[in-house]
Parts: sequence; structure tokens; C-alpha cells
Amino acid sequence: MTNKYLSYDGQRGPKVREMFSRLAARYDLVNDVMSFGLHRKWKKDTIRLALAGRTGPARILDLCCGTGDLSFLAEESALPGSRVTGVDFTFPMLRVARRRRLETRSRSGFAQGDALRLPFPDGAFDAVTVGYGLRNIADPLAALREMRRVLAPRGRVVVLDFGKPDGRAAGVVYRTFLRTVMPLMGWLFHGDPETYLYIPESLEGYPAQRGVQALMREAGLDGARYESRLLGTMGLNVAEAPAAPGPL
Ligand SMILES: C[S@@+](CC[C@H](N)C(=O)[O-])C[C@H]1O[C@@H](n2cnc3c(N)ncnc32)[C@H](O)[C@@H]1O
Repeated sequence: MTNKYLSYDGQRGPKVREMFSRLAARYDLVNDVMSFGLHRKWKKDTIRLALAGRTGPARILDLCCGTGDLSFLAEESALPGSRVTGVDFTFPMLRVARRRRLETRSRSGFAQGDALRLPFPDGAFDAVTVGYGLRNIADPLAALREMRRVLAPRGRVVVLDFGKPDGRAAGVVYRTFLRTVMPLMGWLFHGDPETYLYIPESLEGYPAQRGVQALMREAGLDGARYESRLLGTMGLNVAEAPAAPGPL
């Protein structure tokens, strides 16, 4: 049976929004529990890669920002004068981000928007980060093209998401782990096993680190490369916008 939150058509967005609306209140807690806190390290790596080599203030877009983890980390790490904007299409996730913003006196801005139709002019950002977001978007190539459009020449994009391990044995163990533990998480924290079973099921159709590298090239991004974490179960994809804007 197909997961009720997953489809590869025009219903993908509304289903994903429904799921994250349901998860929002306990989303941060479940991340810590299911990754044993490791997601914090991977998110720090994402920001380090996004800002590497920058010598001045940066305009940073945190796409699919959810409750704002990457936005707040970017604000902490970027040079003075930088500006961070988080964008997400699920209002309850943004509500948590805005609450955290008040609690921490952050200056990050949060806006509602769709990754496939960003409400920003061409070249508006020096860096784009996407944490566990690309896998949820119906058309990842179109989303990467949209990221390239809003990036300034030589601006950088970093995508963090679940990966696919290299070895067959590691792949089997990993899939079995996800298919056993995730529904349990969904049931325990949200009374609905399908919420977190969505992770392994969406991963089946997601190209992961190697496929995203190819999609980045196809989207016209330069220098596409990836780094793996934890035996390839997590992937970090990095690329840059071309030095001169070309046809999109
Ligand atoms: C797994 S959460 C990740 C949140 C955060 N980046 C993190 O790493 O904790 C995925 C987020 O992507 C958002 N999202 C999915 N598709 C989107 C789209 N097309 N446009 C904007 N946001 C989207 C969801 O609303 C959700 O908040």
C-alpha cells in the first residue's frame, strides 16, 4: 500500500504540507531522538560548507526551513551584516521557527513560500541551504533550477538529506532499520506510523547523493560534488551557480 503522505503528482505538495502540519509541534524532539542528536552535527557541516571561503557578509536562503535549525545556525556562523531568510510552505512549521526566533532574539526572517516558485528576484542570495527538504519536493530538478535562479553568480547551494549507502549489505541493514524504527517513532510521537514511515518510502524515489549530483549538473550548477556521512546514510551535496548567469 502506498504511504498516504506520498505521491508523485500534483498532490505531493498538499500531502507533504498536511504531514508536516501534523508533525510540527514535536518535530525537533523527534529529530534528536531518532538521530541520537547527530542531525545537529550534520547541520553544522551544512552551514560550514555553505559559508566556506566567504570573506564578507552573506545573503543566505534556508529553503524548506521548517522549524529553523539551519537558519539559526547560519545566523550564528555568518559574518556580521549577513542576512538569513527561511522559507517553507507549511505554516505550523514556520510558527515554531518564529517562536524560536523570539526566544533567541534572532534576526532571521521567516516567510511562507513554495520552493518551486520562490518569491525572490534573480541573484538575490549568496548561499542556499536545504536540510531534509529536496526529498519532499515533487520535482527536485525544477527546485534546483529555481535555486540556481535566485543565487548570485558563484553563489553556493548545499543540500543535506538522507543518503543511500554504497555497499549492498549496508543498504539492506539501513533500509531494515528505517522500515522498523521509523513507523514506531510515528506511532509513539504522533499516533500515526505513516508519518515517519514516509522517510524510507520517500527515499526509495529520491536519487540521493549521487543522483542529486547529476541533477545539480543538469540544473546548470557548477562543481557539483558530494560528501557522505555515517557510511553514506546521509549525503551533503554542494555546487555553485555559474560565474555569469546563463539560460535557465
Ligand atoms: C523534514 S523538514 C526539514 C526542516 C529543516 N530544514 C530541518 O532540517 O530540520 C522538510 C520541510 O520542507 C518543507 N517543504 C517541503 N516541500 C516544500 C516546498 N515545495 N516548498 C517549501 N517548503 C517545502 C516542509 O514543509 C517541511 O517543513
